[in-house]
Amino acid sequence: MSDTISLQCLECEKSYPADEVRYLCDCGGLLDVWHDLESLRPHISRAMFDERVSGAPGPRVNPVTDSGVWRYREIILPAAPENIVSRPEGNTPMYEHPRLSEWVGSSRFFMKHEGENPSGSFKDRGMTVGVTQAKTIGAQAVACASTGNTSASLAAYAARAGIPALIFIPAGKIAAGKLAQALAYGAHTLQINGDFDDAMTLVQTVCNKLGVYLLNSLNPFRLEGQKSIVLEILQGFNWQPPDWIVLPAGNLGNTAAFGKALYEAKQLGLIDRIPRIAAIQAAGASPFYQSYRGQFTERVKVKAETIATAIRIGNPVSYARAIRTLGWTDGLVESVTDQEIMDAKAMVDRAGIGCEPASAASVAGTRKLIAAGVIKPDETVVSILTGNVLKDPGSTVDYHTGAWPRAAFANAPVQVEPELAAVQRMIEARLGK
Ligand code: F0G
Repeated sequence: MSDTISLQCLECEKSYPADEVRYLCDCGGLLDVWHDLESLRPHISRAMFDERVSGAPGPRVNPVTDSGVWRYREIILPAAPENIVSRPEGNTPMYEHPRLSEWVGSSRFFMKHEGENPSGSFKDRGMTVGVTQAKTIGAQAVACASTGNTSASLAAYAARAGIPALIFIPAGKIAAGKLAQALAYGAHTLQINGDFDDAMTLVQTVCNKLGVYLLNSLNPFRLEGQKSIVLEILQGFNWQPPDWIVLPAGNLGNTAAFGKALYEAKQLGLIDRIPRIAAIQAAGASPFYQSYRGQFTERVKVKAETIATAIRIGNPVSYARAIRTLGWTDGLVESVTDQEIMDAKAMVDRAGIGCEPASAASVAGTRKLIAAGVIKPDETVVSILTGNVLKDPGSTVDYHTGAWPRAAFANAPVQVEPELAAVQRMIEARLGK
């Protein structure tokens, strides 16, 4: 393990060796992977990262050139190459679409599609680093609590590494695609009679008592990997930062990672100014939004409920890290209703791009912030689409087939008799003669 990194407490700044297995400081504070930015600065440059962008991957994965995470390894995790577990992840597209730009009200609106990672969500960026760290420290088993995507990703990466995975999920509250992935990749899947917040409490106890390595975003190595979403956006814009980055917020791991990435990129001279972060919560699962509205005088916890099950979280773990992000980025928090989420999802889907409900919160939030005059129509905005459209087929089918009461953009299937005349009548009715 390189001596340029250590674990450091956010609250009391106590530091621990990077290979010590711990998720919290003795004082109870959250931990960061701390990079010695001063000694790194002379060795880091835009050109160095630009030179590593290669074409199509060859028959063997070369993480440094093929992965959009390990390309930035010096400022993420300087792991031994033989320990790196990569699929490879990242290198996700940034989409633009005229109808969506018009709908959100921005002439410079981009969507970074993290749902196009190997297991279909941004979690792969954190998991490649987390599972690499698990291998580095010789973990016998790994675990997480999840609303679905973390578990799908952990199941995949643990299978690749040959490490047994235990996943804790709220029974009946994770989308079909995600459950299918965990089972298919061979994870030991424990369905909890409770919600994500209960599962999160339980998994921490299990990991602490039974010596299993915890790979929720409480684990700071996960967040190091997720920083690469921002690094890739910056590199994609030739290191000229957009004005805004808008993302859905649940357990607040990504919000935390984005702030740290931007802070470090500025400190290292990769960028000259820091974009503003807007974290978007679902109205029924908005503890961070409510705390923000109360100037963080109180840490609000809620019993969460939303159609966007990925962010159905009432007591987010990375709370303090996310507040720090708002400070570093002049950031803000907004909330959107399930109706706004599902209509935004339908717009993203119909553009041929597609995403799961939680992802669409970032698009709905962008639209709301533009309508409110907070984001200006000519500012450059990147919204993060966090998960793939195939993750949650149930919510999509419900929206389009009438189970969702006010589906503004429903595209219901039509029942036809198996004969030409019937099809012709249908075409004429739908498309005109
Ligand atoms: N979008 C999707 C699709 C997610 O799966 C998650 C989190 C988020 C957004 C929110 O990110 O937690 O970093 O604020 N999913 C976690 C899971 C909780 O278990 O898969 P966050």
